[in-house]
Amino acid sequence: MTIAPWRSPLSRALHRNRALPNARYVQLATVRLDGTPANRTIVFRGFAQGCDDLQFVSDRRSEKVQDLHHQPIGELCWYFSKTREQFRLLGPITVISATTEAEPWQQQRHQLWQTLSDNARLQFCWPHPKQQRTNETLFATVPPNPMQPSPHFCGLLLQPTQVDHLELRGDPQNRWLYQRAPEGDWTRQTINP
Ligand SMILES: Cc1cc2nc3c(=O)[nH]c(=O)nc-3n(C[C@H](O)[C@H](O)[C@H](O)COP(=O)(O)O)c2cc1C
Repeated sequence: MTIAPWRSPLSRALHRNRALPNARYVQLATVRLDGTPANRTIVFRGFAQGCDDLQFVSDRRSEKVQDLHHQPIGELCWYFSKTREQFRLLGPITVISATTEAEPWQQQRHQLWQTLSDNARLQFCWPHPKQQRTNETLFATVPPNPMQPSPHFCGLLLQPTQVDHLELRGDPQNRWLYQRAPEGDWTRQTINP
């Protein structure tokens, strides 16, 4: 497999900013059913094995997952504060849920579940997101089985088709645009910031 050309600057940024816990926090924008944008922070969970897909996890009851069933596309915005650079990655998003068929998908979902901390896994046992919270609302406190993903647990895979990399350092700043042709080849252009 040839690695996409934007992987090396992104991996370099991840490495150079590794001391900052928020270097793995990314903003993900999706499109709501009514066409309005929705944006939130999620944690980058690494690249999928053997391809350039970026992995994330979420709850199938969440609005983002519902939106992705209708419009399976998103854009990530990722700022690395130590090296002062931004990556915007656009592409289709695949949701791997408990009902996604084919063994390799479920294997990937199980692997993602296993990499989570007890606290992160526990959140998938909480009551339905965004419903009214009352004094009676019960939040589970016993961590779930690390070998058995919660039925609410989903993997999200974003397959970039365009990557916009802006480096603030330098005068003038530097900006590159990577675009993937339908057959899969990448082009890289140096563009004005
Ligand atoms: C630092 C941080 C990390 C987060 N990581 C995740 C995550 O990995 N997955 C996730 O679904 N939500 C994560 N969230 C919560 C989301 O930002 C969001 O509030 C929640 O998923 C509901 O979003 P939605 O209603 O758009 O689906 C995180 C929030 C913060 C502040």
